[in-house]
Amino acid sequence: MELAATLAALIGERHVLTGDAIGEHYRIDITRKYKSHPAILVKPATTAEVSEIVKLAAEEAMPITVIGGQTGTVGSAVPANGGLALSLERMNSIVEIDLLSMTMTIEAGCILQTVQETAEAQGALLPLDLGARGSATIGGVIGTNAGGNRVLRWGMMRDMVIGLEAVLADGTIVSSLTKMLKDNAGYNWKHLLIGSEGTLGIVTRAVLRLRPLPSSRQTALIATETFEQAITVLRHLEVVLSGRLSSFELMWSNFFATMTEAQLPQRPRPMALGHGFYVIVEAMGGDADYDLAQFERTLMRLIEEGVMQDAVIAQSEREREAIWAIREDMTPGLTPLRPFASYDVSMGIGYMPVFAAQAGQNLAQAYPAAKILFYGHAGDGNLHAIVSTGQMNPEIQHGFDTAIFNAVRDVGGSIAAEHGIGVSRAPFLSWTRSPAELALMRSLKNAIDPKNILNPGKLLDAMGNG
Ligand code: LAC
Ligand code: ZN
Repeated sequence: MELAATLAALIGERHVLTGDAIGEHYRIDITRKYKSHPAILVKPATTAEVSEIVKLAAEEAMPITVIGGQTGTVGSAVPANGGLALSLERMNSIVEIDLLSMTMTIEAGCILQTVQETAEAQGALLPLDLGARGSATIGGVIGTNAGGNRVLRWGMMRDMVIGLEAVLADGTIVSSLTKMLKDNAGYNWKHLLIGSEGTLGIVTRAVLRLRPLPSSRQTALIATETFEQAITVLRHLEVVLSGRLSSFELMWSNFFATMTEAQLPQRPRPMALGHGFYVIVEAMGGDADYDLAQFERTLMRLIEEGVMQDAVIAQSEREREAIWAIREDMTPGLTPLRPFASYDVSMGIGYMPVFAAQAGQNLAQAYPAAKILFYGHAGDGNLHAIVSTGQMNPEIQHGFDTAIFNAVRDVGGSIAAEHGIGVSRAPFLSWTRSPAELALMRSLKNAIDPKNILNPGKLLDAMGNG
């Protein structure tokens, strides 16, 4: 292949693979639902190389998909058959930590957890945190505008990206690796690229906002009888803990029961079954003794007032991990439900009970034996759902999607709170975005990537609705 030879001459033979020499990691994502056969895999080492690669691919209108940790769930990072897979794994340097400006400049191939740990070693916090931290790359979490467990306090990835460098569809390097928090000089183009799933540009470097590292952390598992009580607890903690509340992860009782059951006997259940709702509550602060005393006092009072039924406060790092495992350790936690479909929907917080009931009803109508479990970032209006009926195929998947997304539509919500649209959600984009919004998205895509070479077939393309 001529292009492969040209690319090999450009970035070195070792860094260009073709056909069957391309490993599985570069053909799939974590769901393993989509598999592909990219023609070429390239592993550039610099932004300048990425730019040259894009120019060459553009000449042949070759589709380009960026490969990261492949922890996406909607097929966004699965390359096109016969296309170019571009892995940024060699671009994994921490370029600079500036503790005065509280910024970190990094290359897009860095693993999230490495970035978190590097910041922590310097007494700083990169607040973005999610289950896939050990594999997800910074380019990936920017490309999907990832959320996770601490959005409540520090926002999504979008809120942590101060500066950005990217390669556009014609190879242009557009760079604003600034440390400024505020910049209203015209269109803020970086926000267009963040969350665009690799369809508008290839993120190569970023300046991230760091926060002072909290020195104390309190974690509890709490239980309430009703959803409304859980939200009362949330609002109360927001006020009383004066901004220290960093996570509020709500679990419906059947999610709690399933996860803790599957994790037995290795991990004893820290709280009895039988409550309506369980929540992992975490706060971070700067005065360990005061923070813990206030945390305990507040939870105790909520129990006394009858808002909360029970609370278990982690007394050690081991207990903290055990509490989080109820929420995050999907293997073995969800193993009994495999294969299943998973969702990340968004709505006004007050609509969650109506949505959950309606989704359950829609599902029971189509699949009477199906199970549905809800959990998620309730403080952000973001629910996850796991749906299982013992088997999966495209028809069942479509039936599940229809049941869930109809309920989302009824409450004016979004079909994608965090994971994006990719391939699997694309047919439903028009359920959640108006014709005018879709037209605007299409004009932007056409203006920025007129040859449609950046991650084609994702987000807008597969949509089938113009
Ligand atoms: C989570 C990911 C799946 O919240 O979004 O666990
Ligand atoms: Zn999530």
